[in-house]
Amino acid sequence: MEVIVKENYEQMSRLAAEMIADLVRSKPRSVLGLATGSTPVGTYKELIRMHKEDGLDFDQVVTFNLDEYVGLPTTHTESYRYFMNDNLFNHINIRKENTHVPDGLAKDVTASCTEYERMMVEHGGIDVQLLGIGGNGHIGFDEPGSSLASRTRVKTLTKETREDNSRFFASIDEVPKYAITMGIGTILDTRRVILLANKESKADAISAAVEGPITAMCPASALQLHPAVTIITDKAAASKLTGNYPAEPHRLILK
Ligand code: F6R
Repeated sequence: MEVIVKENYEQMSRLAAEMIADLVRSKPRSVLGLATGSTPVGTYKELIRMHKEDGLDFDQVVTFNLDEYVGLPTTHTESYRYFMNDNLFNHINIRKENTHVPDGLAKDVTASCTEYERMMVEHGGIDVQLLGIGGNGHIGFDEPGSSLASRTRVKTLTKETREDNSRFFASIDEVPKYAITMGIGTILDTRRVILLANKESKADAISAAVEGPITAMCPASALQLHPAVTIITDKAAASKLTGNYPAEPHRLILK
């Protein structure tokens, strides 16, 4: 695991965007695994800037998002499909048919999860997976207790995650109770992982994920089993780490 501690959120976002841009330049048909939530928004803004100002080309890029709420139409402003269109896809030259978000309205959810896994394989697997982390150590919607071998499936959201996410809804009652999410096993199959964390509210989760034991009670700790993980934090999210971590990665190029 490579841990990089940046001064602030802007620097974290710039580094993550540079790493993704390096990959896209060297492999135009890159398959990106993407996340929603507040953490990756700065990275997406920087990728949009690179597209507009430096001509970063997404024409051949394929994406798979980690998760989606069950029951929200894609027109709902809190659906993850809406979020991705609004925060990234509508502002770059990606082909919409190359962007994949789990189908929260699927009639046969189990079949659609199996199909999602099949499509990732058909596209050659995910080259780099961007992740945030929940205050309880979740990645995707893989809450504490999720199997470390899990694949894309429906999960019940914990009370804590529904409370965390209620800030985006009119009331907690409107927060969906279920979500479709890539499993921890799915995430471990990706070629490379970039996990971003900022703010003190993530400090305990980052400490458990990086320096704690591998346990289903902190799903992000499973990343210790992945051979190519870069964790990029700001000073606040790194404040409970005991190790000494650098501000620059060993290498920038993701090949
Ligand atoms: C989002 C996702 C979640 C978030 C996590 C952190 O697609 O999979 O695991 O990354 O809940 O959310 P923020 O970034 O809003 O703190």
